[in-house]
Amino acid sequence: MTLRQFKVWRGDASGGQLNDYKVEVNEGEVVLDVIHRLQATQEPDLACRWNCKAGKCGSCSMEINGMPRLGCMTRMSTFEEDETISITPLRTFPVIRDLVTDVSFNYEKAQEMPAFAPPADLAPGEYRMQQIDVERSQEFRKCIECFLCQNTCHVVRDHDDNKPAFSGPRLFIRAAELDMHPLDARHDRKEIAQQSQGLGYCNITKCCTEVCPEHIKITDNAIIPMKERVVDRRYDPLVVFGRKILRR
Ligand code: SF4
Ligand code: F3S
Ligand code: FES
Repeated sequence: MTLRQFKVWRGDASGGQLNDYKVEVNEGEVVLDVIHRLQATQEPDLACRWNCKAGKCGSCSMEINGMPRLGCMTRMSTFEEDETISITPLRTFPVIRDLVTDVSFNYEKAQEMPAFAPPADLAPGEYRMQQIDVERSQEFRKCIECFLCQNTCHVVRDHDDNKPAFSGPRLFIRAAELDMHPLDARHDRKEIAQQSQGLGYCNITKCCTEVCPEHIKITDNAIIPMKERVVDRRYDPLVVFGRKILRR
């Protein structure tokens, strides 16, 4: 057991500050263990959201030494013994209290997105798809909705005014997943991403990919292929010619 130095943000929507604490740390522990010990021994009303403690529910997202991470998957051994560790709430979303933020932005954006829409003449139970199509989008279905990617993306991190027009990387992988789905026949996902979800705001900095705890290649496998296909369609002279013919 060692005593380690922490700074933890306490406050609410009206403001707050970093408070200093010394907390016991044992071998093998993660940051969430330390927060629980702090609640148990010094700050019983410290607010922190968590659920599974196994990196699967996506609840314990926070910023640790300024880096967006899952508290339950960040080992204390990651840090130097004498390092002060600061724990702050996600910066992109409004604070409710202490380490708990209001992430409803992400659910509102999900709601704006047209749902999976199979061909009208197929009844539930008649849906069939090839294994290869199942596998193509498997990576995107690993998303645990921790919203670390949403929190990190510079398009909205310090620019609240971009939020109405930008759905963010989590929703781009959902769009890519549906775009690859052979039975999602009634929507043009690339066009929706470009026109309504703000795909054009993304300048492929890849920060979202760097923080994803599920190691989803958000930028390379979802965003860039969608951007390429939107551009191809817009500027491909054959497509433009075909469109003109069809309009006649
Ligand atoms: Fe979290 Fe990754 Fe899903 Fe983004 S894509 S919400 S970082 S699991
Ligand atoms: Fe943002 Fe990821 Fe694009 S961080 S700018 S959505 S590559
Ligand atoms: Fe579920 Fe951390 S508590 S991901």
